[in-house]
Amino acid sequence: MIIAIASLKGGCSKTTTAIHLAAYLQKKAPTLLIDADKNRSALTWAKPEKLSFKVVSETAAPKYIKDYTHIVIDTQARPSPKDFEELADGCDLLVLPTTPRALDLDALAQTVDVLKQMGATFKILLTQVPPRSTAARDARKSLEELGLPVFKAEIKRLVAFERAPLLGTTIKNYPDARAKDGWSGYLAMGKEVLR
Ligand SMILES: Nc1ncnc2c1ncn2[C@@H]1O[C@H](COP(=O)(O)OP(=O)(O)O)[C@@H](O)[C@H]1O
Ligand SMILES: [Mg+2]
Repeated sequence: MIIAIASLKGGCSKTTTAIHLAAYLQKKAPTLLIDADKNRSALTWAKPEKLSFKVVSETAAPKYIKDYTHIVIDTQARPSPKDFEELADGCDLLVLPTTPRALDLDALAQTVDVLKQMGATFKILLTQVPPRSTAARDARKSLEELGLPVFKAEIKRLVAFERAPLLGTTIKNYPDARAKDGWSGYLAMGKEVLR
């Protein structure tokens, strides 16, 4: 399966989602993460060689893709409508991470309009969900009222997500009791992707 992670805004957990989804998929079948962001965040994360799956740039990708069952593509912020069109054409599922913050949801609404017009297959993932807040519930309600597909799984806001890249690991292997909560979010999301 080919899954691209995209959003109009930066900082919405695209790279974090790409890394953790790839870690989940790798447990099922050989998985390749293609870092298509010029910032090379996923490649930097992979540098200590502690991740369970391979990460390559989009330039190197053609040599590798034939050997993998699942491909996850991490993309850059500020994609143009044309970028979205090409991404949607080149993948089976477009995952759109968004925080429940009003401005991020607003950017998402613009993205979704473009994707709907192209008939793309996409699903929204709520990320960086703060504890004890109704923001995510309200966001989900309004997205579902608009008839938009939203993952049942949600990703909590946890400090471990900010620190795991520094260690070159996923949150699954991060030494912190609460990190388990974060991994279980991506586990549930991964299951929905393969369903
Ligand atoms: N669930 C989360 N909880 C806390 N911090 C997060 C979470 N997801 C991402 N972050 C942090 O937010 C910032 C942006 O995330 P990143 O995955 O790099 O987003 P993008 O690739 O969309 O720019 C990073 O510092 C990252 O560590
Ligand atoms: Mg990124």
